Amino acid sequence: MDHLEEIRGRIGIEELVGSYVQLKKAGKSLKGLCPFHSEKTPSFIVSPDKGIAWCFGCHQGGDIFKFTQLVENVNFAEAVKILAQKTGVKLPERMPLIANQRLKTIEINEVASQFYQKKLEENPKMKDYFLNRGLTNETIQKFRLGYAPDSFDQLKNHLTEKHYDRKDLIEAAVVSQRSIADQSTYDRFRNRLMFPIFDHQDNPVAFSGRIVGQGEPKYINSPETPAYSKSLILYALNWAKESIKQKNVAIFMEGYMDVIAAHQAGTTNAVATCGTALTPQQLKLIQRYTKNIIFCFDGDGAGKEATFRAIELAQSSDVNLSVIQVPEGKDPDECIQKNPAAWQKAVENPISVMDFYFDQATKKFETQTVQGKKQVLDFLLPFIKTAKSEMEQNIYIHRLSLMLQTDPKLLWNDLRNLKSHKSHAQPVSEATIKTHSFTREEYLLGFIFSHPEIYPEIDKGLILTIPVDPDTERFYIALKTVYTRTSSIELAQIKEVFTEEDRERVEVLGLLVDEEYPDFSEENRMREVKKLIREINRKNLFNTQKEVEYKIRLSQDPAEKKSLLNHYNEILKLTLKI
Ligand code: UTP
Ligand code: MN
Repeated sequence: MDHLEEIRGRIGIEELVGSYVQLKKAGKSLKGLCPFHSEKTPSFIVSPDKGIAWCFGCHQGGDIFKFTQLVENVNFAEAVKILAQKTGVKLPERMPLIANQRLKTIEINEVASQFYQKKLEENPKMKDYFLNRGLTNETIQKFRLGYAPDSFDQLKNHLTEKHYDRKDLIEAAVVSQRSIADQSTYDRFRNRLMFPIFDHQDNPVAFSGRIVGQGEPKYINSPETPAYSKSLILYALNWAKESIKQKNVAIFMEGYMDVIAAHQAGTTNAVATCGTALTPQQLKLIQRYTKNIIFCFDGDGAGKEATFRAIELAQSSDVNLSVIQVPEGKDPDECIQKNPAAWQKAVENPISVMDFYFDQATKKFETQTVQGKKQVLDFLLPFIKTAKSEMEQNIYIHRLSLMLQTDPKLLWNDLRNLKSHKSHAQPVSEATIKTHSFTREEYLLGFIFSHPEIYPEIDKGLILTIPVDPDTERFYIALKTVYTRTSSIELAQIKEVFTEEDRERVEVLGLLVDEEYPDFSEENRMREVKKLIREINRKNLFNTQKEVEYKIRLSQDPAEKKSLLNHYNEILKLTLKI
């Protein structure tokens, strides 16, 4: 890695970019026309301070290596060669590793996974947990289940003995850094039952650790690492892909245990989304193997809601969808253990998406009252509207008219008057996944990164200390952790705990704020920060309110309902305050 530092020392970002693009000085940074997209007014900013160049129009850029990759359209290793030549740095004959953080992470995970497997064998009590849940020895072996001992350093010591670097262990996220002041590390997973997660090519990319017995959080997952992007992975696809091809259908479930139990019971074409909503990328990945998808999520309210959302997402893709409603128990795993025959029957008889919607409509609403009929229409018509042919629509309208005892003509009228896909089936294109204008949470991070001294104000101001925004969550968590431990925020040290990619984001967001609010007085800055905090608070409270409302609606247990109502009132009080 020294060679990279040497190259960095010999050429500044402004000099490098200047050889491709005409740059003009603008305050602390330089500006020019973006080399990556065509534009008339410059939005390409070069910051010698931060060592990066970034286009705020097309959102591309990075340090000298990334810039060279982009502008020359080459990979990282080639970019290094080009820059070495430019700067006269001599590279060794065979450049080791470069850009191989991903491979290193995978290698470390492999060693860790073997370690956890061995610990499970040495702990009959822990192994009993799996056996008592109906898994066989063979299944435990196949899925490489393990146990992380109740210790802060057993894995760390094991990996260190094998000469893995402290930094690489942090990047792979098998250990965490204690704090900024104290840079020592400790095992991330302790006293947990371990599920290694593989990508579709069988590389161990992450772990999930289940608590032994009851408690919170039930599962701890690896964060994003150079090898792991949660939204790109389907759990068990490595074991399921052949079977999916052969049966020409894939079954999507929610949890690890569901998929493992399903495979053991012969349903070998099951994969899991790992408790998150189905993502467009996962949907694309599965289409390499089949166009036929069955959703089999948990039987509770959240599982039904996940099914609706997955259907909405998948409708705009060229796939055939159906649904398995878990007959007994709350999730597939429970059903398989309790009543394998009912499971087999359900698997062999998936229902159509339309049947699922009709079934849910009768369960959710009264079909005999005026109010209830209206709710059924609001629920079903937008969905019927998405049916591919008029003939299909006709069948459903007919069915709906029988259900509500209404004239089909009226229903046709309602259907025609309905604006086409209002909430359902927003087409998801590559572009909508990627387009990116900055969110409030990102602006606020930008302020923190360019003026870390304001962090205490933000810590005080945010009602939910960690804004619920999946893209920025880990930054806020890191900041909060550091702040709690050291009572101050210093940028250089925060960067230590971020991955390479995240570090770039820190620079970009800092640059964003420097650019958009140049020469801001401290007073103006605080005003802007407070405004952002207010807006984020309002949005988070609103979302939380909706979520609690939803839980109240689902709750069957009076005690739980009461505590949810209390929570709801607290949220309302807070909302009135801001
Ligand atoms: P469930 O709560 O349904 O757990 O979460 P489960 O899969 O049935 O697990 P068991 O049977 O209680 O052992 C479904 C999935 O959501 C994710 C996991 O992927 C889990 O398998 N999850 C759940 C988390 O990532 N973290 C959590 O704290 C809980
Ligand atoms: Mn379960």
